[in-house]
Amino acid sequence: MLTPDSLDTTPEAAVGVAGPVPGHPGVYRVMVTTSLGDAYPVEVGPGILRRLPELLEERAQAHRYVVIGDKQVMRFHAHRLGTVLEDAGLRVDSVEFPEGEEHKTRTEWARLTDTLLKLGVGRDGCVLALGGGVTGDLAGFVAATYMRGVPVVQLPTSLVAMVDSSVGGKTGVDVPAGKNLVGAFHPPRLVLADTDLTRTLPRAERSQGLVEAVKHGAIADGDYLARIQELAPRLLEGEENSTAQIVIRSVEIKAGVVSRDEREGGLRQVLNFGHTLGHALEAASEYRLPHGTAVAVGMVLEARLGERLGVTRSGTARHLEAVARALDVPVAPPPGLPLEKALDHLKRDKKVRGGEVRFVLLDEPGQVHRGEAGSEAWSHPVPARLVREVLQSSGSVDD
Ligand SMILES: NC(=O)c1ccc[n+]([C@@H]2O[C@H](COP(=O)([O-])OP(=O)(O)OC[C@H]3O[C@@H](n4cnc5c(N)ncnc54)[C@H](O)[C@@H]3O)[C@@H](O)[C@H]2O)c1
Ligand SMILES: [Zn+2]
Repeated sequence: MLTPDSLDTTPEAAVGVAGPVPGHPGVYRVMVTTSLGDAYPVEVGPGILRRLPELLEERAQAHRYVVIGDKQVMRFHAHRLGTVLEDAGLRVDSVEFPEGEEHKTRTEWARLTDTLLKLGVGRDGCVLALGGGVTGDLAGFVAATYMRGVPVVQLPTSLVAMVDSSVGGKTGVDVPAGKNLVGAFHPPRLVLADTDLTRTLPRAERSQGLVEAVKHGAIADGDYLARIQELAPRLLEGEENSTAQIVIRSVEIKAGVVSRDEREGGLRQVLNFGHTLGHALEAASEYRLPHGTAVAVGMVLEARLGERLGVTRSGTARHLEAVARALDVPVAPPPGLPLEKALDHLKRDKKVRGGEVRFVLLDEPGQVHRGEAGSEAWSHPVPARLVREVLQSSGSVDD
């Protein structure tokens, strides 16, 4: 299993293992190392926003703080965050932008940057990104470039952000040529995931976010995958204990991977499982297909590719399908999705090398296929003909 501590036996193998925070029941901490060799903590637990001043003091001391969040998240949670910070005597400003992926743009980056300049924020300022993945990426990119870089603290509020995007240091914006094509690696000083904040998250956003947790189970921990399926009804209701459990395990898995390969030179590719086809389907739908759904379909189809190649244990695709269904996520592309467009997009994918599309394949649920024993090859070329066949067999796609 690609569990964080079974990957290797080097001293940093303890990285990516959650431990309880002494004196704070229910709070867990996972350390993530960056390519520069330093490390930042991810803390997960219910109600831990109140720990923020203490953690800022420890990890991100600044002359002043600027909270950046989208309007929807700010409406629910800005007041509480502001109170926590002001009660601790910290200087805080808040800046908002309209919610939605369509605002993760250079225009919004420029507007937010200009606002910080107008506020007179200097190099001794610190950005607090309060929100989902859009906020984390956009505010993170503002921080990465503001006066050549100021610290950012990630305060994820969606499940996507808690289990995935707040950890790993990728920031950026979308451009007309594609999503996430302009950005920077800018690891946070600290990630604080207060699972209570997910109470206001719409059910559909929960479903979508949990797909990334399914991916973590698929690539690293078969038992975890089974646990997600079992807890699905409670997770969709937003039951706190189950939500915290899932966030902690996903953060462990993601932290274990990005700590070893922040810049996607090798191992980090495993996080692309389901995403190669997922991105192609999203693009073919002109981004009408939600990301989680696209990745769920992508994982099922990529598992099927592996099964057809004789690499992946038979039944794996069905297993992933069952987990996605339990989370109320569709597992087939919507009728009428243009197959040729998806195939065209695959050819232009960043992961194409030497004209062949490469895929992360599984041996079985919880284990990524590595080629010959000990091989560092985390992705494998798949014949275009087979990709076409598997896409066609997904049922709802017309040619
Ligand atoms: N940097 C990375 O490594 C990485 C990884 C995965 C995804 N991403 C990015 O993340 C983005 C998707 O993230 P997302 O799904 O969180 O999108 P999002 O930030 O747009 O959040 C989804 C919606 O939920 C709302 N929301 C968030 N938290 C809420 C809460 N607690 N209560 C009520 N409403 C809330 C938001 O206002 C928004 O309308 C994409 O842009 C994707 O590219 C980045
Ligand atoms: Zn994803």
